[in-house]
Formats: sequence, C-alpha cells, structure tokens
Amino acid sequence: MIKKKEIIKEYNKKIELLNKYNKHYYDKNNPLVDDIKFDHLKIEVQNLEKKYIFLKDRLSPTISVGYKPSKNFEKSKHRVPMLSLSNAFDYEDLKNYEKKIFNFLNITKKNDIEYSVEPKIDGISASLTYKEGKLISGVSRGDGKEGELITENLKTIADIPQTIVSKSFPKDIDIRGEVFIANKDFEYLKDKFANPRNAASGSLRQKNPKETKKIPLRFIAYTFGYFDKLSLKKQSEFIQHLKNWGFKVSKFNKVISGIDNLVINHKNFEDQRHDLEYDIDGLVYKINDFEIQKRLGAVGNAPRWAIAHKFSSVSSFSKILNIDIQVGRTGALTPVAKIKPVNIGGVVVSNATLHNEDEISRKDIRVGDTVKIERAGDVIPHVISVDTSKRLNNSKKYYFPQKCPSCGSKVIKEYNNLTKKYDAVKRCTSEGFECEKMAIEKIKHFISKDALNIDGLGKKVVEKFWDLKFIRLPHDIFKLDYNKIEKLDGWGKLSVSNLKYAIEKSRKITLEKLIFSLGIRHIGQENAKIISQHIKNFENFSKISSGFNFENFLNIDGIGETQINSLKKFFSNQTNLIVINGIKKYMILKKSEKTVSGKFKNKTFMFTGKLEGISRAEAKSLIEKNSGKILSSVNSKLNYLIIGDKPTTRKINQAIDLKIKVIKQEDFKKMLN
Ligand code: IVH
Repeated sequence: MIKKKEIIKEYNKKIELLNKYNKHYYDKNNPLVDDIKFDHLKIEVQNLEKKYIFLKDRLSPTISVGYKPSKNFEKSKHRVPMLSLSNAFDYEDLKNYEKKIFNFLNITKKNDIEYSVEPKIDGISASLTYKEGKLISGVSRGDGKEGELITENLKTIADIPQTIVSKSFPKDIDIRGEVFIANKDFEYLKDKFANPRNAASGSLRQKNPKETKKIPLRFIAYTFGYFDKLSLKKQSEFIQHLKNWGFKVSKFNKVISGIDNLVINHKNFEDQRHDLEYDIDGLVYKINDFEIQKRLGAVGNAPRWAIAHKFSSVSSFSKILNIDIQVGRTGALTPVAKIKPVNIGGVVVSNATLHNEDEISRKDIRVGDTVKIERAGDVIPHVISVDTSKRLNNSKKYYFPQKCPSCGSKVIKEYNNLTKKYDAVKRCTSEGFECEKMAIEKIKHFISKDALNIDGLGKKVVEKFWDLKFIRLPHDIFKLDYNKIEKLDGWGKLSVSNLKYAIEKSRKITLEKLIFSLGIRHIGQENAKIISQHIKNFENFSKISSGFNFENFLNIDGIGETQINSLKKFFSNQTNLIVINGIKKYMILKKSEKTVSGKFKNKTFMFTGKLEGISRAEAKSLIEKNSGKILSSVNSKLNYLIIGDKPTTRKINQAIDLKIKVIKQEDFKKMLN
C-alpha cells in the first residue's frame, strides 16, 4: 500500500509544476511546455484527485481557474464592431466634450442634453447573439472587430438568459454587456490573480466550460450590436427593456441632464463606489436619444455619443487591524498598517505604509481606526487620513517602539549632513546580521536580481529557509542540503535541480555586483561599480578592514564621507568579515561586461511604467552596454523617456514640457535593433 503521505507529496509536486507552467503562460507570456504536455499533466492531477478524495482542496488548479485559458477558440466576426470609449477626467473635459458634440450637431441653442448615466464596470465585455429568442452564440470583444467564440462558457453564467420569451424582443439581436466577478467572490481567487478583472478573463476563456462554471461570474447588460427591428427611442428605454427581457442591469443607471449635474452625481458616486459589490472605474455617459446617437456616429473606434468619466483618485476606506513595524535591510523601521483587505482600483490591498513615526503622530493614526487609503500607480498604498468620527471610545494612542522589534537594539534617528536635519526614519543600530529581520533582508538582497540573481530563490523561499535554519548568512546558500529541500512541501526533484543550477550559475559574478550584493549602506550599484574599478579584485576588497586607509577612497569621484563612514562601520563588524571570507570561497570573479557598441553614447534614458517581457534591470543594463546612461528624474539632461504600461502621467507631462522625446517600448526596441 502506498502511503497517504507519499501520494500527497506526488500530488503537490504535480500541482507545483502546473502552477509554474501557468505562471509562465499567464504572467510571463512565455510557455514552458507545449499544450500536449500541459494537458497531460493536468489529466494526471485530475486522475489523482478522482482516485484519492483527500487530495481535493481549494488550492488545486483544477478547481480554481489557475490554469491557462485556451488559445484555440474559434474566431468570430462581430456583425457590428464593439467600440471603446474615450475618457474624461474632470469638468473641463466634459465641457469640451459637449462643445464638440454641439458643434458637430450644429446646435446653437445650448439646451441641456440628456444622458444615460451608467457605472463603468471593470470586467470583460461580451456580445451575445439571440435569434428567435434563443442564445445562439457568445463572443468576447477581441480587437473589437472579431472576438473568440466562447458561447459554452458564457452559457454557464446564470445571469445570461438562454431563452427569451417576449413579444418585444427583436428576432435577431446582439446584446452586449460586461462579465465580471463580485469582490466577495474574488476573495477566494486573490492568490491567483492580480485583480477581479483578470480572474474574470481567465475564467471566461477556459477550454472546458465546466471550469468556467466553478467561478461565480456575473453579467450586466448595457448595449446592443446588430439588431433587426428595435423601435425604441432612448437608451434609458432600452435598459428598461433589457430588464423586462430578463437581463440583469445596473441598479445605478439613471438619466441626468447637463454637465453640472453629471459632475455632482460623479462626486457623490465616487464617495460610495467602494461599497459596491463590484469594481467600477468610472461612469459612462451616453447621449440618451438614439436619433442623436445615430447622427453623431463614431470617430476611430470610439462613438461620439458616449464618454467615460473616470474616477481620478484610487482610494478607499478600510480599518486598521494592526500596526506592524518592518525592519528593512539597512535597519529602517517602517510602520505598516495591516488593514482589512479592500479593493482599490482593481488591486486588493491589505497593507498600507504609514511611512514613519512622525507621520503616525501627525495624523494620530491608531489601531482600530477607519482610514482612507490611496493607491497611485505602482506606488505602495498609503494612509491619507483618519475618519475620527468612526473612532471607538476606548481607542489608544499609538506609541512607536523605542527599540528594534527584531533584535532589541537601540533605535536612532540619524543626522543628515546634507539637509542638516535629523532623518524622519528611525533605524536599528545593529550592523546587520545580529538583527534577525535585517539579516533576512540582507540575504534577500544578496540573491536579488541586481545582485547574484538566483532564479527560484525568491524572497518567500529565503524566509522559509531562514525559518528552517537552513541559512543564517549569505554564503550558507552555497551550503544548502538539497536532500532536505527535496523533502519539503512544494519542492520536488525538478525544482531542486533548477535551484541547484541557478545557485551554481550565480557563483560567476563581476566584482561590482559582488560588492553591491553585500548590501553595504550607501553602496548602491553605482558606488559598487566605482569601488570595483578602484580596488580591482575581491582579494583586495576583502582585506579592507579597520586598519585600511580609507582616505584613499576620498579621491574617487562619487565616493564621499557618507560612503566611507559606512564602509568603516561595515568592515569593523566581525560578522561582516566572516561573511566576506565565507563568500570568497565560493565566488568566481568574471570581467565586467564591456560595452558592445557605443550607439547610445552621450544619450540618456529614463523609464516610466512597466515594461513588457523584460525587467527594468535588464533594460537598464542594455542601455549601459550600449554606452547610454540612465537618469532617475526628468530633467533637461534627459534625451528619452521610455514609457511602458501604466506610466506616471506627471513624468510624461514634464518630459513633454521639456521637449524630451517620449517613446514607447517598441520604439526603444527598434533603436536597439
Ligand atoms: S457601452 C460603445 N456601457 O467599457 C461604447 N461600455 O471602454 C462601449 N463598459 O469595452 C460600450 N460599462 O467593456 C458601455 N455601461 C457601459 C459599460 C461599458 C463598462 C466597458 C466595456 C467597453 C469599455 C469601453
């Protein structure tokens, strides 16, 4: 008899692989295996689940839609294109929008125009074709002209009627609306998807409709495509009919006249949007009169008769459950509010930074408080304000710890010679490896992308290995007992051999990266490079100790008092010396990467937004390899601002003002050839 334990182990290994394949397919857009291999593994997992009931749990990728959507859906042309909406952000934009319509329609007498106001649900749009009251087909939006035929998957959604018996229902019509997941249902999926929208998209595009059915998708109808006879005059009437025909429509739909009233309504809605069951990212305004809609038509792929009024700030209210003090690699104590998870602009947030002690006392932030949290772009969410009206009588003022919560060392605020002020940040005074939290962070830094860059040894793994006492100092990574790791939950032969390979590979490193990997305070990548050029080899570097003449360093351009003091402190610590000597045994130094061609000579670059298919670090190194330079702020010295996904508008505007070339990632690729 095979033991239960072994079956679980086998099963976990397969799931781990499945999830890994998924991740590569989904997040990295880089499948590791072909479809056949993937499906085969999936069937193996399913068979195990069938055979051994005890294996079924919610984490299984066969239950949640963790695995990949099919690429093999049949394509289907939309009879009427599915358009998108142009955006307005404020009163000005709306005024301009209306002005254009009035001009277009040649209306001089400016009466208030009537709009159908509808929440803009952040989901996936779909078009449903009904003939003789029967749902014939369902198609995703695709590129607006043609989408994927996902009829069977759409049919699993309870909100979508499959038969409509109503005299007023057109004989042939496309009904369009949004497929989405309610926030409460997303709770169970949040480990697998970044936001409800991705979860809905993944679920909808499963090869097997049974998988779609497992996720509670919803559908709200709001418009039509092709139709054969529909004698209605207004969008608001159409919405009423949708309801009568058996579709779900938003209960927040209304009719409003005039921009002023639209803006008042928007403001009210923005305040309460987070109480809704699902995510909305704005309001859609459609000119209510179909006759006027028809006259207005579309420009490009957006109708003139509609506009989306986006919500500007992504903020929400939640409750502080606790205040954690995180200790960073350099000892900085950062207070973090653990909040009741809340969806802010499509991302589930459960932590918000409180910055530092002063910030907490200035805002009098307390555990139990209801606070407003803002998330802007890819910045860490932060607490904006406290709603003191919701504060309980027994709430207590928060006092910042006077000792490091990790090692008990004294905490201090450093004096900054440049600003002539004390820093706002409190720091643990331990040099590093004596403080548990700092040590873990230092090891994370050691293996990070810009340092040793060990694939398969992420932050979570470091934490786990630390807990298991596998590692205490950076060079313990080279002494791991792989037999022990293989026996751990979630690890298997394949992942262990991958790890082994990655660690082995990481031993070959340039001196500058090795110096950087030590995580010495004030010695970032740039300074590490400068020092490495000066010191030549690791042997020389390792000999730096308290007796070293640091004054030599003062002549190096870029190295100042701050760096020297930091190096002195680093080398006067015994554990650091042990680390250096420990590492030395394992590392094989390689030459710094030399410039291949100088095509970016005298050119400066900066990035904003997420790049596709390449990390920032790699993109930067490509620029440097071509003799280009990276700048960290938009200023007159900048030549190119490269924009990725979700760029910071402020940076783009600054660049435009300064007449700096703003280019897309594709353009950058072309430049690189
Ligand atoms: S009308 C013809 N109405 O917004 C204009 N779209 O940016 C588009 N959306 O792809 C269809 N709520 O996914 C319309 N009440 C609503 C909507 C809505 C959300 C989405 C839809 C569309 C996107 C356009």
